[in-house]
Amino acid sequence: MEKVDWNNVNFPLALAPMVGISHVAFRELAQLYLPIEAITLWPTEMLNSRKVPKEDLDITAETKKLANEAYLVPQILGNEEKPIFESIQKLKLWGAHGIDINMGCPVKKALRHNYGVALMGDRKYAGEVVNMAVRSSDLPVSVKLRAVESQNSHADLLDFVKQLLDNGASWICLHPRTADQKRRGVADWEQIYFLKQKVSVPIIGNGDVQTLEDVFRMKEETHCDLVMSGRGLAARPWLLWQVGEKIGMKPKENLLIGDRVLAPSSQEEEGAEYGKCLLFLIDACVKYFGESLALRKVSFYVKITHPWLEFGHSLVGLCDKAKNSEQLKQYILDFFSVPQKMYAKTDLRQ
Ligand SMILES: Cc1cc2nc3c(=O)[nH]c(=O)nc-3n(C[C@H](O)[C@H](O)[C@H](O)COP(=O)(O)O)c2cc1C
Repeated sequence: MEKVDWNNVNFPLALAPMVGISHVAFRELAQLYLPIEAITLWPTEMLNSRKVPKEDLDITAETKKLANEAYLVPQILGNEEKPIFESIQKLKLWGAHGIDINMGCPVKKALRHNYGVALMGDRKYAGEVVNMAVRSSDLPVSVKLRAVESQNSHADLLDFVKQLLDNGASWICLHPRTADQKRRGVADWEQIYFLKQKVSVPIIGNGDVQTLEDVFRMKEETHCDLVMSGRGLAARPWLLWQVGEKIGMKPKENLLIGDRVLAPSSQEEEGAEYGKCLLFLIDACVKYFGESLALRKVSFYVKITHPWLEFGHSLVGLCDKAKNSEQLKQYILDFFSVPQKMYAKTDLRQ
């Protein structure tokens, strides 16, 4: 099994791990827009290291995957040696190309159990967790973390990251919002730039990337090795096509793209594309998760991405009203039979 080799990563944009969104059905959709020869990293949803050892990864919703998904880096949450070891061993056989450790999750449960962002409050133990993961297999291990909240935030961030690197982390993904900010407020890209200047491992920058311009602005301002987008790329998976177009890489032929040559770019084109994506996503969710879970996954997707659409709130209502996927598809076809506009940006409050 091939491991992530950064020399092969030739595309500037990657999807962020998102519970409820970065599952196999959404990845299948997004990968249709990825240029043929493009190589980037792909996340899973966050996987609890206490659960993975007990699960059948081929049938568990969070670990379903496509055949031959390249550079798949599942994200685990945890802080105990045995579950981490067993999870990583199992994920390696499953097809992981690297392992990402979540040190950014700010939910109360994570704080109570001292994992997720709580690990950022205990530098030494965070290093030990990385070490546990590194010792578990020969897969490269990365950490996704947040901004440090302190008087000396830059110095403290660097000390923290050094501890992770001393324990064998191969790269770092920084979402420079503090735990208190959760996902709101401005992400401080300056911290990504700072980290990139100070360490030699690859740095992934994340936060506030919604448009094509944002992708290249983050690269230029922070010098990061890879730009990661969460909510923006979820709402606009064809951002991968737009980025490919900009750097001269063509998407592979597929039914979603059809014989179109140019990526959608106007508000109306993007509105129509959102509708196409939603229809694709419903079918993919039914295929992978079955009817009832599919409806919940699609509703959640719409909850997170509807703010980009001028009348997106109506879509939330349609998801609530639909009794099954066929009905939902019909509602969506009707909704998008009237041209819909998509905003370039939202204030990312969801
Ligand atoms: C619905 C949702 C679920 C998320 N789940 C995770 C997660 O499981 N692991 C993680 O590291 N970050 C998670 N995040 C945070 C994103 O990975 C990302 O860091 C954050 O949304 C900022 O990026 P953005 O501004 O491009 O959305 C989640 C974000 C959203 C919106």
